Amino acid sequence: MSQETSPIIRLADYKPTPYAIDKVDLDFDLTPEATLVAATLAISPRAGTFGEPLVLNGDELTLVRVAIDGRDLSEDEYEASPSQLTIKVPPNGAFRLEMTTRLDPAANTKLMGLYRSSGTWCTQCEAEGFRRITYYYDRPDVLSVFTVKITAPKTEAPILLSNGNPVSSGDLDDGKHFAVWHDPWPKPSYLFALVAGDLDALEDDFTTMNGRKVKLAVYVEKGNAPKAAYAMDSLKRSMKWDEDVFGREYDLDVFNVVAVSDFNMGAMENKGLNVFNDKYVLADPEIATDADYAGIEAVIAHEYFHNWTGDRITCRDWFQLCLKEGLTVFRDQEFSSDMRSRAVKRISDARLLRSQQFPEDGGPLAHPVRPEQYKEINNFYTATVYEKGAEVIRMLKTLIGGDAFARGMDLYFSRHDGEAATIEQFIACFAEASGRDLEPFMVWYREAGTPIVTVEESWDEASHRFTLTLTQETPATPGQQTKKPRVIPVRFGLVGPDGGDMQPSGIAGAEVNGDTLILTQPSHTVTFEGLASRPVPSLFRGFSAPVKVRQSLSSADLIFLLANDTDSFNRWQAGTTLAMTALVKATQQVRAGQAPSFELAPIDALGSLLDDTALDAAFKALLIAVPSENDVAREVAENVDPDAVATAHQAYRRTIADRLGARLKAIVEADGAAAGQPYVPDAAGAGRRSLANTALDLLSITGSQEIMALVRRRFETATNMTDRMAALTILVHRGDAGAEAALASFFERFGNVPLVVDKWLSAQASAPLANTLDKVLALTQHPAFSFGNPNRVRALVGAFATSNPTQFGRADGKGFGFVSNIISRLDATNPQLAARLLVTFRSWRSYEPKRRAQAETALRSIQIKEQLSRDVADILERTLA
Ligand code: BES
Ligand code: ZN
Repeated sequence: MSQETSPIIRLADYKPTPYAIDKVDLDFDLTPEATLVAATLAISPRAGTFGEPLVLNGDELTLVRVAIDGRDLSEDEYEASPSQLTIKVPPNGAFRLEMTTRLDPAANTKLMGLYRSSGTWCTQCEAEGFRRITYYYDRPDVLSVFTVKITAPKTEAPILLSNGNPVSSGDLDDGKHFAVWHDPWPKPSYLFALVAGDLDALEDDFTTMNGRKVKLAVYVEKGNAPKAAYAMDSLKRSMKWDEDVFGREYDLDVFNVVAVSDFNMGAMENKGLNVFNDKYVLADPEIATDADYAGIEAVIAHEYFHNWTGDRITCRDWFQLCLKEGLTVFRDQEFSSDMRSRAVKRISDARLLRSQQFPEDGGPLAHPVRPEQYKEINNFYTATVYEKGAEVIRMLKTLIGGDAFARGMDLYFSRHDGEAATIEQFIACFAEASGRDLEPFMVWYREAGTPIVTVEESWDEASHRFTLTLTQETPATPGQQTKKPRVIPVRFGLVGPDGGDMQPSGIAGAEVNGDTLILTQPSHTVTFEGLASRPVPSLFRGFSAPVKVRQSLSSADLIFLLANDTDSFNRWQAGTTLAMTALVKATQQVRAGQAPSFELAPIDALGSLLDDTALDAAFKALLIAVPSENDVAREVAENVDPDAVATAHQAYRRTIADRLGARLKAIVEADGAAAGQPYVPDAAGAGRRSLANTALDLLSITGSQEIMALVRRRFETATNMTDRMAALTILVHRGDAGAEAALASFFERFGNVPLVVDKWLSAQASAPLANTLDKVLALTQHPAFSFGNPNRVRALVGAFATSNPTQFGRADGKGFGFVSNIISRLDATNPQLAARLLVTFRSWRSYEPKRRAQAETALRSIQIKEQLSRDVADILERTLA
């Protein structure tokens, strides 16, 4: 690597800036080639500051003019480089700093700062993109009141948007026009946004709990306004929910959402002007799946909820990222639970955490929910900060109870409104509201790693006493060798022979709070007195803590819980444990050269559940969804051979398809009968489709001609994208004779809708077939593909690396080599995207030796490249360490 090693930024080094920026005026003159930005900052020294230099951040900036209080500075009064502006001796007292910078948005391929997306000017400033617009204290603890004037050619950009409320607008000479926006709420630079383009809008309004009318608009590319209806509906439901559940009212006259087609992330919560990846806005039944609808609802809610948890109260520094992200994910999870099924949402979130966060915690990129150091902050928008960050807040609520949690939230909102806060300040609100010492709980924020809780049980028939020994241990993670015990809330039930919970006459050995045991020590021996017979323990109900549980319940006990537990999550968990145990054993058999074999009792138990009319379809779909090959590989943990996992996985699905075939067919047929009704993207319809498509996928593993004909028919006659895509994926993944024709007809119909092209690319990239890599290589040359668009890259290369374990993990190393080449290539244009692709290598040390060596070769080939970005260099360094 030839790039200089970048400095480490440390939490312990936090210091406020010597100057405050009280007011910001920005004046943008937008022309395609060169944009001029005139910034005027009202600056004042903070108490105790005298004559310190003013040092502002920049990134690839060109300074045109700098003046103080109206006087242009001479060259010896300042130092300017693309990455920094220093005013050597600022005036004593308050002053006005004027700067003009020149930008080239059209050449900005990093999609940070001001760039163009399909002709629209737009910005992305989190985390450190504002410094690509003007020199600034580009950090979250510098809050200021922004006024923004935008001037642009009127035909090219009839719509001119920024944060806050519109103030004035009008026509100018030369076909230009302007608009002025003012945001009364002080905010950090990362929440600044500007959009200018020729966009259509879907408009509506919302009346707040105090009767204020807010104008709402979702801006989209011309002609797409009808596709914004679901996003608008989700927005209004989000606004109402935040009033009802958290007492939070919106605080501006307008709320605007803009969908752009080139965006590195999902969406961004800029104050009053959320900017979205169009994937999380545009939908109709023709182009969007049930999962897309659910994603839109969740992301719209998430960004809207940031208005209070992120914008009104922001982060003191980027180490506190989970203060806004973990909390806002918790809030969007609660919203989705209330809108749809709480049980289904909880299971999906647990699956997401296990598939994304557990590998992070167990690999070279492990870091605490609140990291203590970083080189590149972009690399810390992780499953740990987001998903584990949300779990930590959920545990806090379980620990102190819903009422104290609500009082703590209210206290946080009132005490820190308008501030840039820390995790300590947030937690202090809950300690005060509950009277509980939360210092021991802080370990969840400070230490990385997934605790393993080992459970041993014994039953004493003579004394009617049941004993559980719960022992916790957290494996070492990079830079943290020793771990403290954590506060772990274990929601539990003791399931009796009739399926109901038994009530012990006494519990000793751990604090008990309602249905929750609270572990605080490395080991607890908990005794339950006065039970008539041995109960089956149901522990960690509702996934009450983000831990791994080692408990050797017998198959019979698990089948009993699967059938009887009153907690839906643990019913599903029992089924998943049974399946996982079977899959791991089968993988070992395959590796030992034996034929995989399976117990049939657990599969028959699933069959009985399919017959249960009291269960909803979405839940049944989760029950019969086999853990993924990646899930199995994670459980196997070392010396992983993805081909062996795939063989075992295939054999297991085949056993289910043979054993439950008739029931699965009946489900698909019932769905076919219901398919004539109009498509509604609600939880009930989505559940029915999900169950039918999961059943169809299982049946197709048999390769039976009858089933494959049924899949082809479903593809041809589908009335919505969910069913069409499910059928197409089966045809492609099974290498069906009809796959090529189906792909061609699909492309013919949807080739001009980029978001649907993404689905077409992903279905091919994730096919577990020997010729997939050649196809993916060819698709990189397809006219519908572009390395410049992050959605296309993720759909093709991202899907290949994350959803195709046998082909990414090919024994000849060509899968790794392909992805590493793309990373090197992308790093030159879009380092953030390149770094995110690189994360797909994080579990490379878990492979068997041959593949491990191939993966290492691929990683080192990236390292050899000249001038790596800080983003990629940081991930690479940690991945190889
Ligand atoms: N603030 C983030 C967007 C962001 C992420 C900006 C990383 C800069 C760097 C936004 O609120 C967010 O979290 N978006 C998520 C989606 C959300 C539903 C979890 C995203 O973009 O993936
Ligand atoms: Zn967020």
